[in-house]
Amino acid sequence: MTAPRIAFIGAGNMAASLIGGLRAQGVDASAIRASDHGAEQRAKINAEHGIQTFAANAEAIVGADVIVLAVKPQVMKAVCLDLAAHIGANQLIVSIAAGITCASLESWLGPRAIVRCMPNTPALLRQGVSGLYANQQVSATQRQQAEQLLGAVGLALWLEQEQQIDAVTAVSGSGPAYFFLLIEAMTAAGEKLGLPRDTAAQLTLHTALGAARMAVASEVDAAELRRRVTSPAGTTEAAINSFQAGGFEALVEQALNAAARRSAELAEQLGQ
Ligand SMILES: NC(=O)c1ccc[n+]([C@@H]2O[C@H](COP(=O)([O-])OP(=O)(O)OC[C@H]3O[C@@H](n4cnc5c(N)ncnc54)[C@H](OP(=O)(O)O)[C@@H]3O)[C@@H](O)[C@H]2O)c1
Repeated sequence: MTAPRIAFIGAGNMAASLIGGLRAQGVDASAIRASDHGAEQRAKINAEHGIQTFAANAEAIVGADVIVLAVKPQVMKAVCLDLAAHIGANQLIVSIAAGITCASLESWLGPRAIVRCMPNTPALLRQGVSGLYANQQVSATQRQQAEQLLGAVGLALWLEQEQQIDAVTAVSGSGPAYFFLLIEAMTAAGEKLGLPRDTAAQLTLHTALGAARMAVASEVDAAELRRRVTSPAGTTEAAINSFQAGGFEALVEQALNAAARRSAELAEQLGQ
């Protein structure tokens, strides 16, 4: 596959991460263009990545194989309506905007090959994970192009149904904040048990990192890993029993359901 030419509409945080990831993969700067309405943002992205930048979105997409819509969801409709007449039949649209459905994009852009993605914040460190959904018009080559793009900032996983994006939003899109909440709570509890705050924070953070690395590298699932570190009548079992007596699993399920419902509601509102 020859390297696709990629145009970014909106050169903010997420676009910068994707561009950085592509450049780190060896993609040539000449294959990447970006537009942003902010002169400062254009200068920054140009200085950091050596790519050509444009003030006009329609100019950035000329000759591109892939057009990445990387503006905030609130401005997506205006950006799409403005670009619609300039997009060619063979150009793939990749949208990373939260809550913007393929149906909304098609109502603004016309029938197109569209890949809708839900990345998460650790993509800024190239440690993200994204769910990707391709509509019917997307070719096998275009799927590879989208996968390479999102793969530049972490793991990219395909979804069968667009609706699953709401579940992805609930699990991984909003997920980093759940772990931050647990980190906050464990740090505070460690402090109450007599540790200096900084020590409690470091112990918690490195435990989270070590546990995640162990689980990612492991051939067995998290439940088995937990069983292996929980000896009968031991300290871990005392804590796990306490979590479960408080309805931990049900609470997590309830929280993720709330996030998925909110994701669907926002898609409804943003698609108007
Ligand atoms: N950051 C994340 O972790 C994350 C995770 C999942 C999904 N996303 C999605 O990624 C998208 C981008 O997020 P972000 O965090 O990168 O936002 P961001 O930093 O605000 O980037 C968007 C950029 O687009 C510019 N822009 C606004 N209107 C424009 C227009 N009409 N034409 C050209 N450029 C325009 C903005 O300029 P101004 O700031 O001057 O308006 C800004 O530089 C969002 O749709 C978001 O839902 C982000």
